[in-house]
Amino acid sequence: MANAGGDILSNLMSGKRLAADIKACVKKRVEHLNTMGIDVGLALMQIGGTASSEQYLKTTVSVSATVGIKTYEYRLPDTASLNEIINNIHDINKDERIHGLLVLFPIPRRINPRRVVNAILPEKDIDGLGSVSVGMFAAEESMFQIFDKDDFTSIGGKSPAARDIACAPHGFLPCTPFGVVRLLEFYGVEIKGKNAVVIGKSLAVGKPLALMLLAKEATVTICHKSSEDLAAHLKRADIVCSATGVSGLIKGDMIKDGAAIVDIGINIMPDGSFAGDVDFKSVAPKASFITPVPGGVGPVTIATLLENTLRSAQNNALLKTPLILP
Ligand SMILES: NC(=O)c1ccc[n+]([C@@H]2O[C@H](COP(=O)([O-])OP(=O)(O)OC[C@H]3O[C@@H](n4cnc5c(N)ncnc54)[C@H](OP(=O)(O)O)[C@@H]3O)[C@@H](O)[C@H]2O)c1
Repeated sequence: MANAGGDILSNLMSGKRLAADIKACVKKRVEHLNTMGIDVGLALMQIGGTASSEQYLKTTVSVSATVGIKTYEYRLPDTASLNEIINNIHDINKDERIHGLLVLFPIPRRINPRRVVNAILPEKDIDGLGSVSVGMFAAEESMFQIFDKDDFTSIGGKSPAARDIACAPHGFLPCTPFGVVRLLEFYGVEIKGKNAVVIGKSLAVGKPLALMLLAKEATVTICHKSSEDLAAHLKRADIVCSATGVSGLIKGDMIKDGAAIVDIGINIMPDGSFAGDVDFKSVAPKASFITPVPGGVGPVTIATLLENTLRSAQNNALLKTPLILP
């Protein structure tokens, strides 16, 4: 699988094509719900905010519009109390127009992020970070999402929507790691039986990604700040997924020839440009596949978020009025 000649364009895992496929499918299903008089709604909550969360909010709002999902912005000041934040989340939980809520990180350090994500109803926890969603995922009750729908034909009959719901009425997978697995599969990267190294162990990215790769039967190693000799782990890896936020952490001499590299990190450089965790110049010529930053994991994350929002709306519609879905 090594990239003969180091042609860095032929081995690029762009997220744009996959994201376009996902969005086209979401758009069609949103339109179908619209014909039933149902609008799909996504709430985005920013508390304080940074340049990167502002950028993410704006991008998500504009991409949502392209698939017909209505967005509701909740911009709370940096000084908002936990009580105010949770009251706003309770309002969103009760709001019938809203099917999913994404809280943009980072949030002010004085606020316990677990209190915030756990206030979101599991049915609306479309980034799967609340304790109920994490528990369902760890228990493999919502893991079905990362497998082909055909694997579930026996569970819910012929309709894909009905099958999803038959598998789990709620319990969404975190969008970024789910997007990484989809991207690897979209480009035909074999996961089963391979050595995968995930760098980073956050609840939003590294940890769930490691569990998903494990579910796909990779042999998984998780590295973090205290891991000794990162290069020794990377040298054995067929798949490297990095989510640290440390630019230039992974260099070409640390990876095995032909490894597939997924760069999840987003770092804003002093000149305002974006860079990942991977030193693209030295790593790309050795990699079988590599994601660019930007344009790799990011677009798939947003497309997956919209897909989860749609699924939440479908679940809600089906639970209230069965038989209206295709
Ligand atoms: N593309 C996307 O859609 C997307 C989505 C979400 C996040 N991101 C990006 O992904 C990155 C990670 O996000 P996150 O939320 O997971 O961040 P996070 O919560 O800060 O976690 C970073 C992880 O990286 C580990 N780490 C930091 N420095 C390291 C080093 N030198 N060697 C090995 N491990 C190291 C940390 O280890 P310890 O646990 O030991 O501290 C931690 O587990 C950020 O750049 C973020 O912007 C991208």
